[in-house]
Amino acid sequence: MTEAIKPPEQRPEHPDFWCKRFGEGVTPWDAGKMPDAFADFVAAHATPLTTLIPGCGSAWEASHLAELGWPVTALDFSPTAIARARKVLGNANVHLVCDDFFKFTPSQPLELIYERAFLCALPRKLWADWGQRVADLLPSGGLLAGYFFICEQPKGPPFGVLQPQLDELLEPNFERLVDQDVADSIPVFAGRERWQVWRRR
Ligand SMILES: C[S@@+](CC[C@H](N)C(=O)[O-])C[C@H]1O[C@@H](n2cnc3c(N)ncnc32)[C@H](O)[C@@H]1O
Repeated sequence: MTEAIKPPEQRPEHPDFWCKRFGEGVTPWDAGKMPDAFADFVAAHATPLTTLIPGCGSAWEASHLAELGWPVTALDFSPTAIARARKVLGNANVHLVCDDFFKFTPSQPLELIYERAFLCALPRKLWADWGQRVADLLPSGGLLAGYFFICEQPKGPPFGVLQPQLDELLEPNFERLVDQDVADSIPVFAGRERWQVWRRR
């Protein structure tokens, strides 16, 4: 069977793929908490950054940011993921949006895009578009910070990216400021994810 004729729930570029998994409660990527390196990054910033979380899933991080008064948009194209995020967020002051990352219009200029388990959820044919889109969404000096699944894992999701491939996607428009091991990974990512911060040129 070719990719083109697979049903939508077997194609990760389609919301039905993710709706099925959220609907069945099969979400092995879900950390269920604010990860440590991102918590440290946020704590180190005295001034809140206007933040986008693309492919937010349950949106645990959005809740943490909102508690600290950061303006945050959590975006996902799966209505079932958005329903899950709404439960996790309760009354938190988060702009929760059901839309496609490649098509939506931000409601305000962004200063930070947070990455976790989003790039590795996208089929590789969308990666060049992802690199261009994060560059288009951020002004010069804006930050892309988060967790990258750095490994050779052709079958996914999660799809592994090699560091030179990630560099090729981002270096035309970004400079990498930070690249660190991750100590609190959940099993699917353990030993294979890195915390990185990139600044828009
Ligand atoms: C592996 S999950 C990660 C969820 C969350 N970031 C986390 O760390 O738990 C990938 C998420 O990206 C969403 N997604 C995939 N492609 C998308 C797109 N083009 N626009 C918006 N969301 C998308 C899926 O619906 C899914 O919730």
